[in-house]
Amino acid sequence: MYTEQQNNRNFANIWELYGVKFNPFATSPLLVKGGVLPVESFVGRKGEMSRLIKQFRSFGGSRCLIVGEVGVGKTTFANVARRTAIANGYFSPLKEIGVQENWSVNDFIINTLYAIYSTINLEEGWKKRISNTTYDKLKNLVELASHEMHFGGVGVLGMTALVNQERRTPTHFSYMALYDLFDKVISEIHKSTGKEVIIHYNNLERLTDEVIRMIFNDLRDFFQIPHVHFIFIGNLIVHGVLQSMPRFASILSDTPILLKELSLEQVNEVINIRMKKLRIEDLEIVRPFDDSALEMLYDLYGGNIRDILNSLETAVLYLTEERPVTIDSNMLAMALRESVEKRYLSALNSKARELLEAVVRSGEITNKELSVVTNTAAPNVSNYLKELQNEGCIYLKRREGKDKYWAADAKIKWMLLEPIGEKRSKTVKSGNSFSMRLPRNKRSGLNISE
Ligand SMILES: Nc1ncnc2c1ncn2[C@@H]1O[C@H](COP(=O)(O)OP(=O)(O)OP(=O)(O)O)[C@@H](O)[C@H]1O
Ligand SMILES: [Mg+2]
Repeated sequence: MYTEQQNNRNFANIWELYGVKFNPFATSPLLVKGGVLPVESFVGRKGEMSRLIKQFRSFGGSRCLIVGEVGVGKTTFANVARRTAIANGYFSPLKEIGVQENWSVNDFIINTLYAIYSTINLEEGWKKRISNTTYDKLKNLVELASHEMHFGGVGVLGMTALVNQERRTPTHFSYMALYDLFDKVISEIHKSTGKEVIIHYNNLERLTDEVIRMIFNDLRDFFQIPHVHFIFIGNLIVHGVLQSMPRFASILSDTPILLKELSLEQVNEVINIRMKKLRIEDLEIVRPFDDSALEMLYDLYGGNIRDILNSLETAVLYLTEERPVTIDSNMLAMALRESVEKRYLSALNSKARELLEAVVRSGEITNKELSVVTNTAAPNVSNYLKELQNEGCIYLKRREGKDKYWAADAKIKWMLLEPIGEKRSKTVKSGNSFSMRLPRNKRSGLNISE
């Protein structure tokens, strides 16, 4: 029976057992300002960072595309670069601009203006850098746009506002008016500080291919407004779409910056620095895992730092009771396999499970391939896939023509972990090289037990 007393008896912060103030495996990106994760924990990426900083130092403006796999560290990389630039007097909205699936061209600009406005409001110094008239225009626009997002109304702002009957929220302001306002804000900031502005658009992969094409065609001039450095961030699919648009590729200031996975040593270093920085004074730090556990996860996820951190957090929470533990590969495999079994697999029947295992082992797979591999009729495959998607086990990774490519959620890959003694001889030795040699579409899941 549940009693509150019982529940309160041991409600201490688990991470204190390890000598740190809070979760050192948190997966939020490092921020431009503040945040719980110490910026000192940023490691590696020296060459890429120097390229991006040079881009910022190329006065006049630039456009840079940064691409990489999900969770590899793209937002963090751009934020750390912007942080350095801000320390050198540049203006950049504190929060990166997270693009949304349904954005129109005007939404893109309105949200850019909104990001600028929020930062100007937070930092008194910047407010003084633009004229009252421009500030008022910005304020009006932002208020009107947010009002309309809530109420679906129509408004005029001293600029032309167009109504789109089908898409009532937010109102479509005139592109030219928005363009001019952005241009004005930038030139005033530039005039008063002599410095430039950095605008960071995050997660372009949320847009469909068609919307990406439309936005980058229609905003080509906008992206060439002087004294602005535009950073676009997306996954490898976005990279492919933009590459196939010579009109866009031709305005990029340099070739895209491709971020690869950090090395095993670097991931280890990130965690060590985090623990040191989060240390509670006078307490000893207890590292909750040993090298064998980290190597196992590094191999499982082809070095993806987000998945590694998430797995370590789950394993530590799962195994910690009253005392700190040091998790080795064996304990890790047991804990994570048990977790995935209880939380996901136990709800599936044996056929669904078989299909899921095939998805996990493939890295990514189409309905048709799955039907062949598991010897299951096509309509049944579709039904099982729907069920697996609803259960949060798989997601639609990409489409190519009519083909849908499915991949397993990162947590589901825990089912591939093998404690020592269970087919250990099949396990591949850890390290960077193995995952690097596999073709990209085979880089997940398969690595450890193939
Ligand atoms: N170079 C690095 N040094 C230290 N920590 C890093 C580094 N790169 C990534 N991280 C950490 O890894 C986690 C994932 O990084 P981030 O959120 O930046 O990835 P992402 O590529 O933007 O992910 P998504 O594709 O989901 O947008 C974060 O907790 C971040 O702090
Ligand atoms: Mg990100």
